[in-house]
Amino acid sequence: MAAALGGDAVGFSVVLLPECDSTNSRLLADPPPDDGRVHVLATDLQTAGRGRRGRVWQSWPGASLTFSALWRFAPGAPVPAGLSLVAGLALARALEDLGVQGVQLKWPNDVLIHGRKLAGILVELLPGRGRTPAAVIGIGINRRLPPDAGVDYPTGVTDLADCLSQPPGPGRLLGLVLVQLNRLLDIYAAAGFGALRGAWQQRNAFADLPVRILGEAEELAGICVGVDEDGALLLQTAGGVRRVLSGDVSLRVV
Ligand code: BTN
Repeated sequence: MAAALGGDAVGFSVVLLPECDSTNSRLLADPPPDDGRVHVLATDLQTAGRGRRGRVWQSWPGASLTFSALWRFAPGAPVPAGLSLVAGLALARALEDLGVQGVQLKWPNDVLIHGRKLAGILVELLPGRGRTPAAVIGIGINRRLPPDAGVDYPTGVTDLADCLSQPPGPGRLLGLVLVQLNRLLDIYAAAGFGALRGAWQQRNAFADLPVRILGEAEELAGICVGVDEDGALLLQTAGGVRRVLSGDVSLRVV
């Protein structure tokens, strides 16, 4: 991991646990003090891994890289909605650097390989008024799923063992992803999501395709025409272009 982090290593504190309930839950419940570094908690096995919309992130020993990073932003800075898209883009870039082909992003932040899910992201904001805004960015990347894993995803799942002849070890993979996160979150903090929007759209799995958005209350159908400067999904509907903010919604290809 140190080799992959290179000069970025000084900016991180990384704790590795053999097992824990959920790395996101741990960092949210007991955030490390702000010492100017990004605090990362990684584990080989989560016993209560969480996904978006109340879903579960299933774990088996060695099956996935699961970690969370506590990112603090400049005092007074809003933690904007595009954060989870930036995390997805960072993950995509790290995977591309490793030689993974066909990396695509499914709004807001699943990473797909030729339509099948390789990785998921759960961003949660750290509550507390008056403190430096902070977010826990939780990432799960399938490395080698058991053959009988049976992970439920509409278009199927994949793992790195299926994408690469020589998949990286968990340490190197973690280091490469952290370097990309560092790079892109710096750009994001300075210039907003607009500076990364083009790169995200190049990898948009549903560009110009008919999709349905399943929300808590309503369902929207339209053509996915991209994302805007805030990271909201733009949907061309019969009634015009609708903005969909990342939240409790789920996107399905029609
Ligand atoms: C999703 O696909 O719905 C998001 C999955 C996020 C899983 C990661 S694994 C590390 C971190 N800890 C958790 O409990 N969840 C995230």
